[in-house]
Amino acid sequence: MKYLKIAFTAAALLCAEASFAQQKTISAKVDALISKMTLDEKVGQLNQLNGDWEATGPVTKDVGNKLDDVKKGKVGSVLNIMGTNHTRAFQEAAMQSRLKIPLLFGQDVIHGYSITFPIPLAEAASWDMAAMERSARIAATEAAAAGIHWTFAPMVDIARDPRWGRVMEGAGEDTYLGSMIAKARVKGFQGKGLGNIDAVMACVKHFAAYGAAIGGRDYNSVDMSRRTLWETYLPPFKAALDAGAATFMNSFNDLNGTPATGSSYLQRDILKGKWGFKGFVVSDWNSVGEMIPHGFVKDNYEAAEVAIKAGNDMDMESRAYIGNLAKVVKDGRINIAVVNEAVRRILTKKFEMGLFDDPYKFINPAREKAAMNRPENIEAARDMGRKSIVLLKNEKNILPLSKSIKSIALIGPLSKEKWYLKGAWSTDVDPNDNVVTIYDGIQKQAPGAKIYYAEGCKIKDSVATDFKDAVDAANKADVVVMAVGEDIFMTGEARSKANIHIPGVQEELIKAVVTTGKPVVVLLMAGRPMVFNWTADHAPAIVYTWWLGSQMGNSVADVLFGNYNPAGKLPITFPRSEGQIPIYYNSLNTGRPAQGDNDTFYRSSYIDLPNTPQYAFGYGLSYTTFSYSNISISKTNIKKTESLTVSFDLQNTGKIAGEETAQLYIRDMVAQPLRPVKELKDFKKVMLAPGETKRITFTINKEKLQFYNDNLQLITQPGEFKLMIGAASNNIKLEKTFQLTN
Ligand code: NOJ
Repeated sequence: MKYLKIAFTAAALLCAEASFAQQKTISAKVDALISKMTLDEKVGQLNQLNGDWEATGPVTKDVGNKLDDVKKGKVGSVLNIMGTNHTRAFQEAAMQSRLKIPLLFGQDVIHGYSITFPIPLAEAASWDMAAMERSARIAATEAAAAGIHWTFAPMVDIARDPRWGRVMEGAGEDTYLGSMIAKARVKGFQGKGLGNIDAVMACVKHFAAYGAAIGGRDYNSVDMSRRTLWETYLPPFKAALDAGAATFMNSFNDLNGTPATGSSYLQRDILKGKWGFKGFVVSDWNSVGEMIPHGFVKDNYEAAEVAIKAGNDMDMESRAYIGNLAKVVKDGRINIAVVNEAVRRILTKKFEMGLFDDPYKFINPAREKAAMNRPENIEAARDMGRKSIVLLKNEKNILPLSKSIKSIALIGPLSKEKWYLKGAWSTDVDPNDNVVTIYDGIQKQAPGAKIYYAEGCKIKDSVATDFKDAVDAANKADVVVMAVGEDIFMTGEARSKANIHIPGVQEELIKAVVTTGKPVVVLLMAGRPMVFNWTADHAPAIVYTWWLGSQMGNSVADVLFGNYNPAGKLPITFPRSEGQIPIYYNSLNTGRPAQGDNDTFYRSSYIDLPNTPQYAFGYGLSYTTFSYSNISISKTNIKKTESLTVSFDLQNTGKIAGEETAQLYIRDMVAQPLRPVKELKDFKKVMLAPGETKRITFTINKEKLQFYNDNLQLITQPGEFKLMIGAASNNIKLEKTFQLTN
């Protein structure tokens, strides 16, 4: 055993030495290359252009001939270019440039490449890190085989405002959960590390605080205390960095009066300074140029100067660098060392990716063909889909449905939909690919059932009818399944909404169908939390399916017919009304907290609406039930250098196997500055056979107890802490307290 340990240590040391040596040689190669580059060639490396695929931002008009620009060494990277046939032409052009510096190809591979996986917010509902890592791994494998080196993901912006359209692209409202997911996704994209043929560079975005846009309106200003920034919004970025993220993207928003793209505080002081980030920062689409309408700089010349000084290395599509940076240097406004540093960061990644050894490394049509849509990966997408589903309501155990059911009415505008099921940010490599509809998924799993289908209405219909076809279909069937919600254009970038109710007259349709008295299961599909009070109160069963990607119909049918016992938990609070937004579990108590929903008199509450949400963070049901009991704590007094454990029994008290995600929340009872009423600090997702009990243990240490003071120092304060363990942030089952002493 001892020898084994020595051997392992020696092997680890050798590995560390090898990678240090590799870095040293890369560094020398980068130096040698930079010494040969002209100023224009250096600026070229910092320039990123949109490729030949659909743009993901306002299209620049005077584009000229991009391949010629590449040949002249004026381009370092191309985005929105997919498929080996497209990337080859660009890389061949780069090989005709004087120094033959390969291009980096970037793409928004956000939730799958050819196989579409659930939208990130949906995946977050699985609370399953291994599954999310696998999903990112598969996306990376397919993307890398299609010639892509770099994905603009994961988006790790904490989002507490469901009006914001991009809430679909992140992991929800919680900093701890979001940090865990950030890590898993980076690991998934980068696999065994840059240089491997199936690893793509991750790009952590949007640095920083983009998710806190005022009013939930995309691109809007953000104004927050530095303490909130550090405590709530930055940790997922740090977690992604610690997991090895190769690149960062800054953001469109201004933060406390400075556009993030021009913020030295964010990019130089925090990211490259305090955190020691060695990769490079890319701007968001034209965010360098957008500092002009922000009113931060007067023209692209100033924009280029301010952005590079602030630490923005690569300019995505604003052409401010390519048009101005050389002059900025020649005018003596910045030192060439600033440009060299940015170039160095980018070239280092190109070396690490192995592109100087073989620029066509990722361009192999045979491998591309073999990598796409592999059956085991399609199965993984189906599995990720069912893991992402959240069962919100299941009165009288309507679900799961019997597979031998005689008839089902399938009602709603999304019943036969294909494309929307993929969700915003699907790469849509093949728009006609094999998306499994809800109709097909149900039919496959209940082949003997007669399906009465009625569209009911269109998603955007604004005038309710008597919904006769839908009501007739419902009346004929043993059970009704309704497929309603948003369309693909209602979430994602630049798709913020002031009204997040189920769109159009679909809730009227639900009313008409539920009023038939038939057992009704409502499937709600969306890229954000929606508001649906009537449905929540009256529909017997509600399943929140989000958008689950190409296997959606199968994943949903797996849950409907009990092939899979749903276990998803909400990663974001569902409000009762837009008026409650922002609403999140992790809030302060105020001096006049309301005790319950009717306690309004001189209380911090609304007189026309409860404070509580429709569905709380962490909530989600199963087809079985669980009990929490026998809590014990290893110590009731600890010093800040010590840790303690809290343990409890988790039992499956129902008749079928199921998974429960037990959540640990903590409250620092008296503190300066104030601490939230609850903070998620740990969780465990546990599979239990019927009747089975497992003892679960969480460890509490300094890391879980510390917080930022007003000077942005991490501190702990002595006093009482409450530990809360439960099935959701509003469903605490067990509590214990302990004292922290100095
Ligand atoms: C703008 C988006 O904000 C960003 O997330 C994305 O990666 C770029 N466009 C490129 O498509």
